[in-house]
Amino acid sequence: MEQNQDNNIDKVLLERFEEEIWNKVPHLENNEEGAKVINATPLVDITADFKECAKKIYNLELSNSELQVYGKLDSTLLTGSIKVRPAANIIHDAIITGKIKSGQTIIEATSGNFGIALGMLSKLGLQVVTIVSRKLQEGVFHELRNMNIKIMDLEMDICPAPGMEGKKDELVAKATAANIRSQLTQLEFDPSIFDNSITEIESLLAKQDIINLAKLLSKIYNCFCPEQYDNDLNVDSHRTITGVEIDQQLHEDGNSLEDFNILCTFGTGGTSGGLSRYISEKYNKKGVHVIFPPGGQDVAGIRTHNNADGLKYYQPDKYAGEYEVDFEKAKPLLKFFVEKGHDIGESSALELYATLQLASANKESKFVVMICDGIEKYRKNLEKIGKIQPPGQVSQENVASNSGDYDKVIWIHTQYTPQEGGIELLAKSLGIDKSKIVVPNARTAQQLLSGQGIPDEINNSIQESKGKALMVCMAGRTSLMAANVLAEKGIITDSLIGGITELPEARNSQLSELVKQASQF
Ligand SMILES: Cc1ncc(COP(=O)(O)O)c(C=O)c1O
Repeated sequence: MEQNQDNNIDKVLLERFEEEIWNKVPHLENNEEGAKVINATPLVDITADFKECAKKIYNLELSNSELQVYGKLDSTLLTGSIKVRPAANIIHDAIITGKIKSGQTIIEATSGNFGIALGMLSKLGLQVVTIVSRKLQEGVFHELRNMNIKIMDLEMDICPAPGMEGKKDELVAKATAANIRSQLTQLEFDPSIFDNSITEIESLLAKQDIINLAKLLSKIYNCFCPEQYDNDLNVDSHRTITGVEIDQQLHEDGNSLEDFNILCTFGTGGTSGGLSRYISEKYNKKGVHVIFPPGGQDVAGIRTHNNADGLKYYQPDKYAGEYEVDFEKAKPLLKFFVEKGHDIGESSALELYATLQLASANKESKFVVMICDGIEKYRKNLEKIGKIQPPGQVSQENVASNSGDYDKVIWIHTQYTPQEGGIELLAKSLGIDKSKIVVPNARTAQQLLSGQGIPDEINNSIQESKGKALMVCMAGRTSLMAANVLAEKGIITDSLIGGITELPEARNSQLSELVKQASQF
C-alpha cells in the first residue's frame, strides 16, 4: 500500500516542485470539457522538408500524395528531452507519497537524458547522483555537470570476457567496486555502509547489473531511486499523457492517430511501451515502430536490440514493427534537418531514416516521429559528419578472404593479452602471418582509448604497414572504440566483429588457453 498521509508529505518541497517543474511540463488538467493535456510540445508537419531531404540526400522521389510526416518536438521540453516526462511523474508521485523530502539524495543509473532531467531537482535542494556505465559523449557529460549532478563513472564499456572461468568477471567487479567506493567517499557517503554490502555489490557488478546497483546503493544509503527501468509510472507517463497529447493535436489538425504510425527509439522502453498501450487501448491496434541501431553502433541515449532484450519494458509483441537502422546512413539526414533549423538529436535521425525506408517502400504513408532530444549536446559530432570516414567493421570471413589487404593486426585491450595459443589461432583464422600481429601492452591500449593521443607503438605499427591495419580485441567492442578514436585522428583501420572469442576455432578452446590477464602495467 502506498503511504498517502498528508502529514508525511514535505509540503514546501511539493509546492516548489509544482511551481518550478510540474507547471512547466506536459500534464493533464481537468476543465469543463474534461481532462486536457496542457503544456503540450509542438507537433510539426515536416513533410515538405522530409521530401526534400529524400530527394537531395538520397535521390528518392517520394511521390505518394498521401505522405504526411509529423515531428513531435520533445526537444523543446524543459531540460531538452522526452525524459523529463517520466522524471517529473516519478518525482511528483514520490513527493506526494512521502518518499522524497527536502535535502534527500536521488540515485539513478542513466545514460544521460534521464539524469539531465533529474538535474532540474538540484535547484529544489535535492542532490542527484547518476551512475553512468557507458562511454558518454562529451556534450552529455558537460550538461550533467552543468546541472550540478554528481556523476559516478564506472567505465564498464570495455569488452567483457565471457566464460573466463568466472574469474574475469570477479576481477572486474572488485576493481569497479573499489572505484565506486572511492567516488562515493569523495561525495561524502560513509564507506563503511558500502563495505557492509560489498558481497552483494560485487555480485551485481560481476553481472554488469548497474540498474540494480543503483537500487541497492539507494537502499543502503537511504536515498530515493526512481527505478526508471522498472517503474510503471515511466510507461504510464506516455500512455496517459504523451499518447493523449499526440491524439489531441492530430485531431486539431483534422487527423486521427488511428491512421498514423509512431516511430520511436528505445532507452528504457517507456516511450514505446506507453504509446503502444495508448493506441492499443483506444484503437485496438498496434501503432508503434521501434528503431534500433545495429550492435556495435553507439547512438546517444538509446539501446541496441540486444541491450533492450531482457528489460522489463521490452515488449516486442506490443509493437507494430522493429527495425535495425545503420546510423552511418542516417547521419547526412541529421545534418540536413539541423541545417534546415530543426532541433533534432541523433536518435531522431535514426527514426527519420527508418521513416524514409518505410515511405519509399510505400508500406505506410502517415507518420509521427518522436523527436526525443535536440542537437545541442551532439554538435561536436555533427561537425564531423562527412569529414571523418568511419572505421570498417569486418567479419572473420571478410578478413580471411581478403587477407592480402591486411598488413598489421593490432591487439587492443586494457585487461587481457593473447597467449601464444591465441596468437596462433588469430593467425590461422584470419589467414594472416603471425609476424604481422602486434600486441601493445595494456597501458598503451588504455592511453589510446582514453583519447590521450595515439601512443607511438600503435602509430608506428600503422604507419609502417603497407596495407590496412585490423584492430582485434576480446569481443569486438574495445577494438571498435579504438578504431573510432583513430578515425577521429584521420587514421582509418578495420575492427574485427566479435573479436577473438567469436572466431569459429575459438569455440573448441578454453578462453584461458587463448588470453591471459594483462600484467604489463
Ligand atoms: C535521445 C533518446 N531518445 C529516445 C529515448 C527513449 O526513451 P525510453 O526510455 O522511453 O525508451 C531516450 C531514452 O533515454 C533518449 O535519451
